[in-house]
Amino acid sequence: MAMRWKNTLKDHQVTDEAAFLNRRQLMGGAAAGLGLAGIGAGAGFAAGEDLTPNSYEDITQYNNYYEFGTGKDDPARYAGTLTTQPWTVQIDGLVDRPGEYAFEDIIKAMTIEERIYRFRCVEAWSMVIPWNGFELADLLAMAGMQSSAKYVALETALRPDEMPGVAFPVLDWPYVEGLRLDEAMHPLTIMATGIYGKDIPNQNGAPLRLVVPWKYGYKSIKSVVRITLTDTQPPTSWNKANAREYGFYSNVNPQVNHPRWSQASERVIGGGLFSKRIPTLMLNGYEEEVAALYADMDMRANF
Ligand code: MTE
Repeated sequence: MAMRWKNTLKDHQVTDEAAFLNRRQLMGGAAAGLGLAGIGAGAGFAAGEDLTPNSYEDITQYNNYYEFGTGKDDPARYAGTLTTQPWTVQIDGLVDRPGEYAFEDIIKAMTIEERIYRFRCVEAWSMVIPWNGFELADLLAMAGMQSSAKYVALETALRPDEMPGVAFPVLDWPYVEGLRLDEAMHPLTIMATGIYGKDIPNQNGAPLRLVVPWKYGYKSIKSVVRITLTDTQPPTSWNKANAREYGFYSNVNPQVNHPRWSQASERVIGGGLFSKRIPTLMLNGYEEEVAALYADMDMRANF
């Protein structure tokens, strides 16, 4: 609980967002019901840096959630139709306790922390997002991982009645993603259930979505309904759509360009006329924490 993450922020640095400051009041209300026990515990130091979290509006009005359309404002406009209660997550494959886990039961068993992470989309834009959530490793422990497991596959809900975008064959629905087991077990990998201390909005992947801060945003799969432990590398949606452009690993890497654009820099969302481009950092700034995962791997070949 006393873990402090470099590259995250201190609470007091998040001064420009009233909703964030109000989150402490929320703890007596609805958010407490969701078990925001350890809120703030994961927020650490921004060693030598001064990251500014994006506004709640930036984070919830500029989205990619193709099940609701491909425009950046489509998710905010259309994702309200998604029914998120009740919600269950099927956990199966190489686990001791496979089954349907109710969202409320998961939340009760988990410690919800705040994690302020950089978020870098493969399209070369970025934000800084104060998530609330729990470590995926804790959820996998709940289901009892078996020693033969090597990968984790995740799947988004597929609800044609509620998701206007799935009428179009933009991707092969449902949206699926996957991680190597050591990536999934890394303490930086979380399942997010909130933003700025509020329940995560539908457009950001309610009621729970993956967040892997050192990988391009498309790995961070939304509205997860199924998690499967496997011993073979699972298929992933963007890789299936275009394997030449989107690899399984998708680690943020300023030295490996997308075939159609540079990944050396990124456009910071927000700031209006003052929006800026900044250099992209290796592994999105989390090199110290996660580079060891790829010590024996050619990151150019395994993009
Ligand atoms: N998950 C699903 N199910 N469908 C999607 O279209 N888009 C991905 C990822 N997860 C997507 C998804 C992409 S490309 C990005 S950049 C992030 O979600 C965007 O997350 P945000 O809208 O919360 O910023």
